[in-house]
Amino acid sequence: MSADLPARPDPALVILVGASGSGKSTWAQRRYRAAEIVSSDALRSVVGSGEHDLDASAEAFALLEQIVAARLRRRLTTVVDTLGSDVPRRRGWLAAARAAGVPAVAVVLDTPAAVCRARNAARDRPVPARVLAGQLAAQAATRSQLDEEGWDAVVEVAADVVFETEAATAAPPAARTSGAEPSLRHGVVLQISRFPVEVDLLAWLREVAGAAEEVGFAGIALMDHLIQIPQVGRAWDPMPEPWVTLGALAASTTRLQLGTLVSPVTFRRAGITAKAAATLSALSGGRAFVGIGAGWWAREHAAYGLEFPSAAARLDGLERAIETMKALWAPGTKPYAGQHVSLPETTCYPRPVGEVPVIVGGGGARTLRIAARLGDGCNVPADDAGLDKVAAYLDLVREAGRRLEDVHATVLDLPLVGRDRDDAWRRVEALRGRTTAATFAARHHAGTAAEHAERLGGLARHGISTVFVSPLDLAGAADVHALGPLATALI
Ligand code: UTP
Ligand code: MG
Repeated sequence: MSADLPARPDPALVILVGASGSGKSTWAQRRYRAAEIVSSDALRSVVGSGEHDLDASAEAFALLEQIVAARLRRRLTTVVDTLGSDVPRRRGWLAAARAAGVPAVAVVLDTPAAVCRARNAARDRPVPARVLAGQLAAQAATRSQLDEEGWDAVVEVAADVVFETEAATAAPPAARTSGAEPSLRHGVVLQISRFPVEVDLLAWLREVAGAAEEVGFAGIALMDHLIQIPQVGRAWDPMPEPWVTLGALAASTTRLQLGTLVSPVTFRRAGITAKAAATLSALSGGRAFVGIGAGWWAREHAAYGLEFPSAAARLDGLERAIETMKALWAPGTKPYAGQHVSLPETTCYPRPVGEVPVIVGGGGARTLRIAARLGDGCNVPADDAGLDKVAAYLDLVREAGRRLEDVHATVLDLPLVGRDRDDAWRRVEALRGRTTAATFAARHHAGTAAEHAERLGGLARHGISTVFVSPLDLAGAADVHALGPLATALI
């Protein structure tokens, strides 16, 4: 198998290879959605009298080819359930996958001949013994041909794993092996970006936060916007003020870290944010953090009578804000004379309990420099470009003479999480808007919580300590519970 290909790439073309009764259909049905499996037997019963109507073979295969081609053109995972022994057909499917830029995998059901024979004999309509014998005799040759054909992976499935359940194959990666408690230093923080309409908001928040605490999230982050942003919902959806809301969460939780992701520096004078965060820290026993950024959405500023200066001026403001907050949180009340800010005194009581980490959101070059020099962490999207930015940020931290252990390299991930593969794809269809299903599913890594946990765990390799996750359609506590293994993927 090629080095960087996951065991089961997705999307992918998957062709099954194996004799009758080797368990091909069973293997596929346990791992893929019915719509993803294209079976010559099933198509025989669509255009013929039944699965075994050999007279309908030509038309069934013509349909099969059309379906495979159409799905691959849309980059949708396609599992081809035939004997897999026809070389020209295999080459055709491989070429179609290559043309679509989709990885092509051959799955060989390596089931002992005796098992195939026994299963065949137990069927209502067994394949004639000499036909099965011919298939079994051809197996070794097929196996070596596959190696030469250039499949991205040839996966051999032993007979005894065919019935392995999905739950077993999707077991979360050794979660919480360290026995460590989740923290802002190492953990997954749940970002809440949408709030329900016409429900008791406090009761809803309590339930969601209780569930988050139970499943092992490190914290809760609230989006800080004055109007719901179009990327998430409709302008008339509720968007509570986050510092007030975090105060309510402080009272109903005991362990979760609490903060914003991110507060635009344009909304509040930095001294007021320093006061709010210090108060939250005091109310929560030291669980407050501040996510802060330059702000980007002109509309919400105009609507609330706030100035929205140029990007350069907003970044100047970001520098001043971090300096001001840190100065006010520092011990004592002495005057402060910094690079961009001077204060005649720094009297801020109640004092925060311990440190209040400042996570700077945004991936622009100057933002990253500010984050590395003045802040305690960065936050960028969890995509390839974001990973490059994390690497750049960590370099800047080193250049600034700071220790990597002292900073938080964080990313924001927007996963689409389904209870199972079917549910994930139902959600893709419901949420994708005008984006094609394959693009939307890939962008949000549509999959189960266990699959997301594995992916997030892999981010640690890039120096990422904390992931903020904002599930696309988090409706309430039940959805938080369903996130299960994802919550503890980084500890
Ligand atoms: P399948 O119907 O999955 O085999 O299993 P197949 O390879 O797709 O066969 P063809 O090519 O379409 O004819 C055959 C029988 O073996 C049982 C299944 O329940 C089915 O009755 N089986 C399969 C097991 O008992 N255990 C397994 O692990 C897999
Ligand atoms: Mg079958």
